[in-house]
Amino acid sequence: MVVSTTTPGSDDAALHCTFASRYVRTALPRYKMPENSIPKEAAYQIISDELMLDGNPRLNLASFVTTWMEPEVDKLMMDSISKNYVDMDEYPVTTELQNRCVNMIAGLFNAPVGEHQTAVGVGTVGSSEAIMLAGLAFKRRWQNRRKAEGKPCDKPNIVTGANVQVCWEKFARYFEVELKEVKLREGYYVMDPVKAAEMVDENTICVAAILGSTLTGEFEDVKTLNDLLTEKNKETGWDTPIHVDAASGGFIAPFLYPDLVWDFRLPLVKSINVSGHKYGLVYAGVGWVVWRAKEDLPDELIFHINYLGSDQPTFTLNFSKGSSQIIAQYYQFIRLGFEGYKDIMENCMQNAKALKEGLEKTGRFEIVSKDVGVPLVAFALKDSSQHTVFEIAETLRKFGWIVPAYTMPADAEHIAVLRVVIREDFSFSLAERLLADIEKVLKEVDDRPSRSSTKAAQVTALLDETKGSEADGPVVKSVKHIEEGVTSYWKKFVDRKKTNGPC
Ligand SMILES: Cc1ncc(COP(=O)(O)O)c(C=O)c1O
Repeated sequence: MVVSTTTPGSDDAALHCTFASRYVRTALPRYKMPENSIPKEAAYQIISDELMLDGNPRLNLASFVTTWMEPEVDKLMMDSISKNYVDMDEYPVTTELQNRCVNMIAGLFNAPVGEHQTAVGVGTVGSSEAIMLAGLAFKRRWQNRRKAEGKPCDKPNIVTGANVQVCWEKFARYFEVELKEVKLREGYYVMDPVKAAEMVDENTICVAAILGSTLTGEFEDVKTLNDLLTEKNKETGWDTPIHVDAASGGFIAPFLYPDLVWDFRLPLVKSINVSGHKYGLVYAGVGWVVWRAKEDLPDELIFHINYLGSDQPTFTLNFSKGSSQIIAQYYQFIRLGFEGYKDIMENCMQNAKALKEGLEKTGRFEIVSKDVGVPLVAFALKDSSQHTVFEIAETLRKFGWIVPAYTMPADAEHIAVLRVVIREDFSFSLAERLLADIEKVLKEVDDRPSRSSTKAAQVTALLDETKGSEADGPVVKSVKHIEEGVTSYWKKFVDRKKTNGPC
């Protein structure tokens, strides 16, 4: 969805096309469908010229999403771009490739699938859709159980850490489930399993643990959570299960930390999602959700259609979608194999380590991410009295780098960090280049007037923002007002995180 802010009819509403002027004599309207056709060369030129102003995806260090694949897979993807995935009868081979992928992922996550059984799972558009589906399955199972016990089932809740990605908030709001968040604290930026287990009540449909927190890459302690919930279930007679959001970590932990027990080896883990388009190494548009067993996915959520050919079971939020990403996922699985993925993840970790050490060497940053986790480096300024991480992020853009800066969620909002995600295409030489540019940026911000010397001006600006115009009366610079101004300034960043924050 685009939330438009245009004023139709303004001068800005016309798109002037310089390079395409040999084909087009009149300007194209920007927000209205043009009356007439234009030559295909002109359409191509206009759009590709405009797209030049987008950032370079390879320098976008904010995103976990894959920005490089081999040319062979580009070809496979283009060859299948016209196939609608949902037409399973027409494209049975594509369906078969999805099923192979689901089974390979289930194997990677140690699902208890018998030799003659197939795994239960589905390809999705990304982890967000996967999480909606997993959440719906938990909600329905909980409702069915409550109904069978003659108990009310109108107040479901889900327990997560306050560090969850926005898709969990979406799930809660769209599907009317209360989100109970375990608050973070300074120095501890993931869900505390003890507090999570304490928060569970009879209305809890599941506890969602994250393998690879979006904010710091840290893995949550699923094993301890499983042990605590097993105890609590025994004491209370409840049956609270666990979902693992392994959007990033699902394609890291099996290769780098095979002894870390976080997956279906833990009995309470009933479903796991993973993003194919993150460390699954496929371009944007593919995710996966796998259930432990058939009984964990209530039958009534599966729709059967037959008008496209034979009986087709579907459990997705969308109907139509492209086939290319599924095919690309299968390509990566057979092309790389276990050892190939392991090599790539090891390289990523090595580059993350080099970047981390370089940042430490500046003496200016405290590393917030952990050595075990997703290959990323999250770091805070040791001293932000003079300059902020937001200034650093903004100045780095001049060098082409997109490095997000954000504050932590409740109750650690006062901690602001920068985060660099290391993907397969972020080479060691790029890491060196980034470090050199960070040094330049530090020098540049040091040469600027510091926050303290412009404090009065800043505080006045902050207060103006919160209090309105001069016409409201003179600004009263009391401590209380200053605090309010600063709080609202920080809140802006926190709110921004919830809507457009790092993905
Ligand atoms: C932990 C976590 N869960 C879910 C998501 C949403 O994933 P997707 O972008 O695949 O929908 C993200 C995205 O970064 C994430 O980090």
